[in-house]
Amino acid sequence: MKTKIIGTGHYLPEKVVTNDDLAQIMDTSDEWIRKRTGIATRHISVDESTTDLSIKASLNAIENAGVDPKDIDLIIVATVSGDYLYPNTACQVQKAIGAEKARTIEINIGCAGCIYSMDIADSYIRSGKSKLALVMGAETLSKMMDWTDRRTAVLFGDGAGAFILKAVDDNEEGGIEAIMARGDGERGDTLTAGGRPLDNPWGHLDSPAGKYTYMDGQEVFKFACRKVPESIHEILDPLGVKPDDIDKYFLHQANIRILETVAKFLKQPMEKFPVNMSEVGNISAASIPTIMDMYNKKGLLKKGEKYILCGFGAGLTYATAYVIW
Ligand code: COA
Repeated sequence: MKTKIIGTGHYLPEKVVTNDDLAQIMDTSDEWIRKRTGIATRHISVDESTTDLSIKASLNAIENAGVDPKDIDLIIVATVSGDYLYPNTACQVQKAIGAEKARTIEINIGCAGCIYSMDIADSYIRSGKSKLALVMGAETLSKMMDWTDRRTAVLFGDGAGAFILKAVDDNEEGGIEAIMARGDGERGDTLTAGGRPLDNPWGHLDSPAGKYTYMDGQEVFKFACRKVPESIHEILDPLGVKPDDIDKYFLHQANIRILETVAKFLKQPMEKFPVNMSEVGNISAASIPTIMDMYNKKGLLKKGEKYILCGFGAGLTYATAYVIW
């Protein structure tokens, strides 16, 4: 068996915050943000939780795939901004959509999270343990930001995106042809946010990281520009597929300059690199399913086309898939 993407969905909170809106609350400008990142607006939740966004994106993907949620046997939600430590977000989605027989997994991988989830689901499907999986990224990153820190707050947004994955026969056309995922824990301190530190009647530890997101932007930038092309070659070269053969590169939407640098490394035109960060900002694990769903609903994903999906971020981590649509 192999894995095929049979549906996509996304959901963005209604409120749109512009760069000019941000310039009202911190020392920044529309010009700086657009020029240095490619971001113009982002959606920010005012009354919806990560669980709410997850459920709405899931239902959207389920409708697109035309499947019965009762047949879903695996749910993986990638998030760094879940509402509870437990129960996890996947259990909440399960309850809302009625996927009674699903395994329910939440993973914390940062911006590579959805492709990591896809890698896990692909293993379940190839081993025969899953026939129909819901994998998604969902984030309310707005609660992870220090809204006085212009180096991070201007970059991120809220949203959720989902894929429905199905087990299909190996001889069926299309599917996930190759997928990889990796961590580089040595560089973990370049992008951090603190969890709950040890605190009990016998001991106490200070949190190793601050409450809000800290990022060494230039280090993460360099990491992405090196690892994205490397990982693409790692999965394409053994298959004899060349970067020229790829129709679209769906990269994590962090910064337009990262996409431009990767395009240059791979000697590919920017037209092959879909962009929605201008509209939604960096929505971490929700980024790739959201942009793919936007393309899908506009009829821009064509049967037989070859796509690269690549996420990178906190950990540091990265994950890349080669998919034939
Ligand atoms: N508005 C105005 N000025 C800003 C600013 C903002 N929002 N953010 C930073 N600056 C200033 C800095 O203070 C600095 O000023 P100084 O030279 O007077 O000290 C100057 O702009 C340059 O800052 P620098 O950090 O060198 O900018 P940069 O070109 O590296 O861009 C990022 C910063 C964060 C946009 C960029 O590094 C980036 O996108 N990195 C990758 C991040 C990423 O992908 N993260 C997600 C992974 S999931």
